[in-house]
Amino acid sequence: MKSLIVANWKMNPDSLEEAKNLFNLIKRGLTKTKNKKLEVVICPPFVYLPLFLGSSTFAQTRLRYGGSSVAFGVGGQDCFWEEKGAFTGEISPVMLKNLGCQYVILGHSERRRHFLENDEMINKKIKATIFSKLNPILCIGETQVERDKGLTKKILNFQIRKGLKGIAKKEIKKIIIAYEPVWAIGTGKSCSLKDARVAGDFIRRTISLIHSRKIAKGLRILYGGSVNSENAANYIFAANFQGLLVGGASLNAKEFIKILNNVT
Ligand code: PGA
Repeated sequence: MKSLIVANWKMNPDSLEEAKNLFNLIKRGLTKTKNKKLEVVICPPFVYLPLFLGSSTFAQTRLRYGGSSVAFGVGGQDCFWEEKGAFTGEISPVMLKNLGCQYVILGHSERRRHFLENDEMINKKIKATIFSKLNPILCIGETQVERDKGLTKKILNFQIRKGLKGIAKKEIKKIIIAYEPVWAIGTGKSCSLKDARVAGDFIRRTISLIHSRKIAKGLRILYGGSVNSENAANYIFAANFQGLLVGGASLNAKEFIKILNNVT
């Protein structure tokens, strides 16, 4: 299975010019890498998406260097569940799809915290996203308080069951789950490999109980939370994740390229 590395740029950078620069630096760095078995997805702010999806960009193409190839994708950082209409400020899944996106991040803890998204809303978004033939990346994870109270598994179980409620077996394989302990996001306190592995295994086991072992086996589970070039490879090779969701480190082209090199 290819490792999936998702760059979440969040609300950065400040201008189109800077977005172009970052994009070009990543592109240049990537043409020098020898990555195989890798899929890279960039999730910029909505306003910069056309920059990635124009004909002169690398999105949706495969760069080849001496037999190796990297598949690229582009995704949104969120979307609404309705297809169109009077929903000021919102973006629909079909808009992302028509623009050429393949992925969309949903249920990120920053959306849960600042925009009061709950699991029912996230569930509606996942269904709408699948309907529009996009691959949702569902973010789940416990806060520090929940962790301190020993509630990690309870929270993960709740978020999985609510988030994926009513989603048919055949659709589950389109979903990617990102384990993102909230306390590890943007703090520099990444989760220990042991704890991350326990959480990843628990997520897979939960899906297996809801659906089947076969479906759970094929599921891609990512780790996110203070990923950098030092710890990235271990989450994949030692903690058994199928990819990473990278925030801060994806805004530094050199560091991001290092991550990509280290995980292959
Ligand atoms: P971080 O963010 O890598 O800056 O911790 C990860 C995320 O929010 O997805």
